[in-house]
Amino acid sequence: MNDQLRPIHFTESLEYSNFIEETPADFKVATAAYRGAAVFQDEIERIFNRTWIFLCHESEIEKSGDYKSTMLGLQPVIVSRDQSGNICAVLNACTHRGATLCREERGNARALVCPYHNWSFRPSGELIGIPGSDRYSPDFDKSTKNLVRVPHVASYGGLVFGSFNPDVESLESFLGPAKLHIDRWANRRADGRIHLATAHKYAFNGNWKFQSENIYDGYHVGFVHRSAFNTIKKFSGSFENRHFGAVRPGGHTRGYPQGHGTLEAGVPLESGGVDPEVRKKYEATLATLHGEQEAKEILKNCQFLIFPNLAIFDFNIRVIQPIAHDRTEIYSYPVLIEGADDEINANRMLDAQTRVGSAGILSTDDIDIFAGNQSALRAVGSRWITLSRGLGLENVSESGARDGEYSDETPQRAFWRRWQKDMTNQGLHVGGCK
Ligand SMILES: [Fe+2]
Repeated sequence: MNDQLRPIHFTESLEYSNFIEETPADFKVATAAYRGAAVFQDEIERIFNRTWIFLCHESEIEKSGDYKSTMLGLQPVIVSRDQSGNICAVLNACTHRGATLCREERGNARALVCPYHNWSFRPSGELIGIPGSDRYSPDFDKSTKNLVRVPHVASYGGLVFGSFNPDVESLESFLGPAKLHIDRWANRRADGRIHLATAHKYAFNGNWKFQSENIYDGYHVGFVHRSAFNTIKKFSGSFENRHFGAVRPGGHTRGYPQGHGTLEAGVPLESGGVDPEVRKKYEATLATLHGEQEAKEILKNCQFLIFPNLAIFDFNIRVIQPIAHDRTEIYSYPVLIEGADDEINANRMLDAQTRVGSAGILSTDDIDIFAGNQSALRAVGSRWITLSRGLGLENVSESGARDGEYSDETPQRAFWRRWQKDMTNQGLHVGGCK
């Protein structure tokens, strides 16, 4: 039958094993994967509650008593550094009457005191004070009222992750080959230290995966961002490595079996108007610390996604926070280097503000596309999308790592393979907190 004349099916099942169809030439994803509350709920349970999710950068909780309130999946958590310097995370819900314990985004405190009845807890969760405690039975066991702890918290390269899954694999094993990209990104601090500036925050009415897939999408750049690039062109002296054509040849997209992926132009980072002398000094410091060749690699353009929702750009971190199947929040943190020349940091802030922040010329273009994607999801009869660019043309290593060209959909396929693995893995123990 002519494909155009096939009957349209409007009923959808949640058989995730049927959500991807792959042949040697075509990689299809069911549009149902982006649609509706049921899939979203399963994603939260099977992906966000099971794997490692980014919580914060170590610099945000540098000193003992520093805390940050954030989200792990859909659950509010407080991540903090205790008196011994260890990082821990607890649910942000008082065990007395369930109040939000910590309303501030960041701060420093010896104890977390609930605003409702002033029960107080150590940042590690231990209940230490109950006002008027003489009105509790002598048999009332305070130790059962500690805050609920996130079972696993670990960090790599300054990035702190947590997991609700008591049986989760080690963070290093989860990151796998993406560790190299984190190492190079972190090594750009030269001999200084990285710290995160306050996040730009914005939101869009669309599915969170539209943003995850877009992080390493080298194919859309010359089309969606054409008008932005025409503006940038006027200042082309500062953007000598930028490609202004429709489809950029060469470069790399990488996809890893763990679900992570990269977009790499294969050229040095833009200098963005930094004084050439300052830049030279910075490069020389990197060469002394890491050797000439590795310094070149460290300073090459690379943006990557740690599955499922942490994007690392050259000069900022973007957290993709799912809120609902059709609502997503973005927290975009400029990344600064303490001790670096002011020009280097000014350039990083400028990038965060003008390019990838809430009013950045790129983010706004992308969000408009995501809104259109979300509207098109109402076309239930359009059952598949295709992510086949570069399929069969990419290099596949023995470990399963795939290396495509800049405009290939290699990392998106890695994302979806991992997505399907997690979504169909119902045998996995779904752990709670202790
Ligand atoms: Fe974009």
